[in-house]
Amino acid sequence: MTSRIIPVDLFDLVVFGATGDLSQRKLLPALFHRDLHGQIPAGARIIGCSRRALGHDGFIAFARQAIEDHVAADDRPADVVARFLGRLDYVSADAAEENGWAELGRILAAGADRIRVFYLAVGPDLFGPICERLAACQLVTPKTRVVIEKPLGKSGASARALNASIGKVFAEPQIYRIDHYLGKETVQNLMALRFANALFEPVWNSGHIDHVQITVAETLGVEGRAGYYDTAGALRDMVQNHMLQLLCLVAMEPPTSTEADALRDEKLKVLKSLKPITGEAAGQLSVRGQYRAGAAGGGAVKGYIEELGSSASRTETFVALKAEIANWRWSGVPFYLRTGKRLATRVSEIVVTFKPIPHSVFDAGAGPIAPNRLVIRLQPDEGVKLWLMIKDPGPGGMRLSHVPLDMSFADAFNVRNPDAYERLIMDVVRGNQALFMRRDEVEAAWAWIDPMLESWSASPDLPKPYTAGSWGPSAAVALIERDGRTWYEDQDL
Ligand code: BG6
Repeated sequence: MTSRIIPVDLFDLVVFGATGDLSQRKLLPALFHRDLHGQIPAGARIIGCSRRALGHDGFIAFARQAIEDHVAADDRPADVVARFLGRLDYVSADAAEENGWAELGRILAAGADRIRVFYLAVGPDLFGPICERLAACQLVTPKTRVVIEKPLGKSGASARALNASIGKVFAEPQIYRIDHYLGKETVQNLMALRFANALFEPVWNSGHIDHVQITVAETLGVEGRAGYYDTAGALRDMVQNHMLQLLCLVAMEPPTSTEADALRDEKLKVLKSLKPITGEAAGQLSVRGQYRAGAAGGGAVKGYIEELGSSASRTETFVALKAEIANWRWSGVPFYLRTGKRLATRVSEIVVTFKPIPHSVFDAGAGPIAPNRLVIRLQPDEGVKLWLMIKDPGPGGMRLSHVPLDMSFADAFNVRNPDAYERLIMDVVRGNQALFMRRDEVEAAWAWIDPMLESWSASPDLPKPYTAGSWGPSAAVALIERDGRTWYEDQDL
């Protein structure tokens, strides 16, 4: 099947923080790809805005470089590059000062009836002040949407304060909270797998599933983001958002439709059913780690503390957890989550392990019977594997083997996977909030995370050291092996 381009209405998109890292690495390349595929309507404008006095030409040069650096050479024909750069404009403005806002107003006035998107690619401390400016300058029309991205708070209280400050200017249907994992192709596929196949739903429960593992492993360290990362850590950076969203998609009840609130209502129920991990239980159900020097991603790398340029830090760069969902479907089924920087390999996957067969009719010579496993690989090499027992081919009696039915999406479909931001930005323009987090979802996720953070900070224990390039501290292995289970290891990695 080929991909299909669904047209969007005419829009003006204003990117605050336009000369920052997110804009350079993700937003401008994503918009360029959509233009390449003919999805950006003639006349649509992209207006960069930041504090830097870059000028129009300076921003064009910045955007040209971003495209050269982040779009494959074959995908940037000169005419499309020229067309794309022709859509750009630039305004220098600071939320704390008057300068620039009138100019932005003048530019936008030329498209007063269009869809208007304000993308706040800036730190969360600027969300409130920028929204206030937009309101004061009367730039918020009924067709205006605002896009924000994590960190959406450092705790439930700060997330509520942030939501309240944005909520003073924008109504909830105008607010698009990005979790870029929701824009990933295979995450979408999880929905297709669960709800477009009759096969899985009848066995998708505690009667048939033994446990679920969700791993998001990175080989990268904290790169240039140590300042931010040290105030966050893996639990806030990855678990509160991306991993809990994945858990919700695995665990939620079938929604009544794919309409945004139908989906978000179901995800919210899962978040509210998570068993709290508080007090001493946090020590048993969670493991924190911090990397030391080692070898990862093909070379020798420094430890976290050296990367940070500090003498000490309690920030975790790895976390493993055992979560449980207290509802009828999942009672007694553990969800083991683990994520970390500087791990052995880059892989994100969801592994659903089914219960063993109730009784074997085969004699011992047939060999052990391993449980069925469904592996949904989000990255790299997106695909789905279903591990089954089969008879080893050829003579020699009944000998059983565990082999995967293996579907690699790259092999099956010769289609370029769009970056998550391409889909998400176009969804904002379309007004489809299905892949964005609602306010109550974010706050419910924090309500589960907060007590764990509190127990950690009350504990004298430090994160356990692990060598860069390993699979994290040995305590993370013990966390799952205590229950007679093991972390899934793909032979292909
Ligand atoms: C971001 C985190 O949200 O997700 C980063 O802040 C992390 O620390 C990144 O590296 C991982 O995203 P992806 O798409 O590379 O898996």
